[in-house]
Amino acid sequence: MNKEIAIDGPAGAGKSTIAKKVAEKLGLVYVDTGAMFRGIALYMTEKGIEANEPDRIKTELEKIKLDIVYEDGEQQLILNDENVSKSIRKPEISKAASAFATIPEVRARLLNLQRELAAKRPVVMDGRDIGSKVLPEATVKIFLTADVKVRAERRYKELTEKGENVDIADIMADIKNRDEQDTKRAVSPLTQAEDAILVDTSSLSIDEVVGAIIKIACEKNPEFNK
Ligand code: DC
Repeated sequence: MNKEIAIDGPAGAGKSTIAKKVAEKLGLVYVDTGAMFRGIALYMTEKGIEANEPDRIKTELEKIKLDIVYEDGEQQLILNDENVSKSIRKPEISKAASAFATIPEVRARLLNLQRELAAKRPVVMDGRDIGSKVLPEATVKIFLTADVKVRAERRYKELTEKGENVDIADIMADIKNRDEQDTKRAVSPLTQAEDAILVDTSSLSIDEVVGAIIKIACEKNPEFNK
């Protein structure tokens, strides 16, 4: 039995916060796959390419080199030798990432990279299709969700705490838009794998969710405790 944990769910459900803490506690490596889609979206956007231009996307994909490295335990995304970990977090890149993630060639390219990373060492990987497509054999599969209003409030709090001037109605609209696009795309849509455990975080604290996932993991494979 492997020591892989797959965490999927919609935007703003708390996946990265939770996955990072679970990885820390269990001594696993955290892999944020959303960052990879964001990296491709950033590259294409800077070239003036839109998600409805499949031919240009295919040509440009060949010029992209993506690397994942860790600095002080934090995942860094290196796009053609430049650390883009900050610029991929802009709201327009969130939107673009969801759009470029519908392109089969983009997904195929990242699928390889994701599986290579998981083959190197045990991971907690988060995304939209990790349990259903990327790591179908993962020992633990969690589908993390929360009410859309709660997700919008959390994102609002996070951004205003960073000093950003944002409107909660815009955040809510953006989340709904991404949910729709991520769930309805033809290739590897956001979905709860058959054997995934649903965790609704709407009224749970971060520590409660982390504790629940660690318990599930150690029950499934006592090796997680070691
Ligand atoms: O998790 P995130 O918000 O950083 O992801 C950005 C977008 O990337 C998301 O809206 C959909 C896409 N994505 C995906 O399609 N599959 C994944 N495994 C991870 C992200």
